[in-house]
Amino acid sequence: MAERSGHIAVFDSGVGGISVLRELVKIMPGERYLYFGDSANAPYGTRPTQEICQLTEQAVEQLLQRNIKALVVACNTATAAAIDRLRQRYPELIVIGIEPALKPAVTQFPNGSVGLMATPATLRGEKLKRLLNQHPHSQLCLIPAPGLVELVEAGLANTPQMDAFLTPILAPFAGKLDALVLGCTHYPFAIPAIRRVLGPDTVLFDGGEGTARETKRRLLQQDLLEEGPGSLIFENSLPDPKILELCKTLLTEASYG
Ligand code: DGL
Repeated sequence: MAERSGHIAVFDSGVGGISVLRELVKIMPGERYLYFGDSANAPYGTRPTQEICQLTEQAVEQLLQRNIKALVVACNTATAAAIDRLRQRYPELIVIGIEPALKPAVTQFPNGSVGLMATPATLRGEKLKRLLNQHPHSQLCLIPAPGLVELVEAGLANTPQMDAFLTPILAPFAGKLDALVLGCTHYPFAIPAIRRVLGPDTVLFDGGEGTARETKRRLLQQDLLEEGPGSLIFENSLPDPKILELCKTLLTEASYG
């Protein structure tokens, strides 16, 4: 039985889910958060679907040993691969996933050109196919970006290395995209670099805020919202204190967004 004093567990393949955690903390500062990043196995997005499911289930099993009242899968890739199985397996648990913020982008730009950048696994998934069918758009361009996650994991989100990585991927779209959907939770940390390459006019969308709002709605619905002093624990599968330092930096970093 979930308790109001339980943790909100936030899971990602690595540090990317901190872009969702920020939004959660903003609208629910009184909660107890337990953030787990599986950086030892990141990136997930270039792995086969079966492997992504196994890694996700393994991490969730461990989180469920703790006092958890909700699970936020703050990873588009893990959501696409494993969310249906998680919901079947734990029907009592509040399980929230994240998906690319395509709907707000195509609603704001019904006749504009929209890019969707995500990991290879998210782009090939059935979940995205369903989302694209729900929001058909004639000028949509899918942009895979394998390698971006590794740079964020290495603490290089806002560096010349990131600019050099993004240039061949995004420079061809400079001045041509009305909207770019950031379909991976690592990508918001690269926003300053994305802006440098793409220019100032493209409107950027990511799913973090919507996911936080949905989490709050589900907690309220079950009378599980807590208004305490709030707390936050970072845990990671990588046995390296530097990764926990990076988590803290990313949570507070001023340049993000
Ligand atoms: N942060 C993840 C996402 O939202 C996955 C990145 C990865 O491990 O490839 O898709």
